[in-house]
Amino acid sequence: MKVLNFGSLNYDHVYEMDHFTEPKETQSSLSYIRNFGGKGLNQSIALAKAGMDVYHAGKVGSDGQDFIDYLEKYNVKTDYLKKDNNEATGHAIIEICKGQNRIILHGGANQSIDEKQVDDVLSHFEQGDVLLVQNEISCMAYLIEKAHEKGMVIAFNTAPMNEKVFTYPLDLVDIFIVNEIEGAGLAGLQSNDNDEIIEGLKEKYPDKKIVLTLGENGSCYIEGERVVHQDIYKVEAIDTTAAGDTFTGFFLASYLKDKDVVKALDLAARASSITVQGKGAAQSIPDISQL
Ligand code: RIB
Repeated sequence: MKVLNFGSLNYDHVYEMDHFTEPKETQSSLSYIRNFGGKGLNQSIALAKAGMDVYHAGKVGSDGQDFIDYLEKYNVKTDYLKKDNNEATGHAIIEICKGQNRIILHGGANQSIDEKQVDDVLSHFEQGDVLLVQNEISCMAYLIEKAHEKGMVIAFNTAPMNEKVFTYPLDLVDIFIVNEIEGAGLAGLQSNDNDEIIEGLKEKYPDKKIVLTLGENGSCYIEGERVVHQDIYKVEAIDTTAAGDTFTGFFLASYLKDKDVVKALDLAARASSITVQGKGAAQSIPDISQL
């Protein structure tokens, strides 16, 4: 079984702020740093740091060699990462303040992935291999359809949630990985009541595996009538960027290896509790030996 993560790569421009900038306000940042990020890249790093062999497919601009070197440093395979000199690498503007963040995305090369690239990449994978995707690249519907045709197992982290998600063939997804906002959206609810979200997901997706993170209320795994809860490990959060990506990578790596959801949820909770104690995205994801 091979694991393919077809996902975004962004330069994260991170500004530490006194408060989130208001409309009409100009304020100086307290600090600035540029990091490697993108939900795709972060999740590949998390999978690799959790001990999983992973191929990362995606697209970067002419300055993309840095991303290739970074991924390879953590043993992520980059054979299917394309450099396109006519595109700008994706980037994110991230304000962090009191442990919370706000993110503006510019898709750039992530949004120029086309059917040809999808076909080329998928030609290297086969039935039983796993595809992980997030919602930060183009050509998603085609990618999910073609991966399903091949008999690949499809895990979809619906972040960032938007209306495009409902244009994808969601019936072909095997595992959804969502937070409470994405979970409510997926269930077609406006609720922020966790029990209602769980019931809504059970009702709408009775034959799917669903991993639902609930912030301070922990996380759970839902499959049919089975619901497994996991508490958080309480720590002081400095920067929550990539906490969800860490959870996704560690959960999936552990689940695919042992098929033990209790163990996978616990490992993912422990890993993301470490990520929130560090600044930045990929760079704050722990190695499994730290858990
Ligand atoms: O999940 C965090 C990530 O979201 C950041 O690294 C940023 O690039 C955006 O994709």
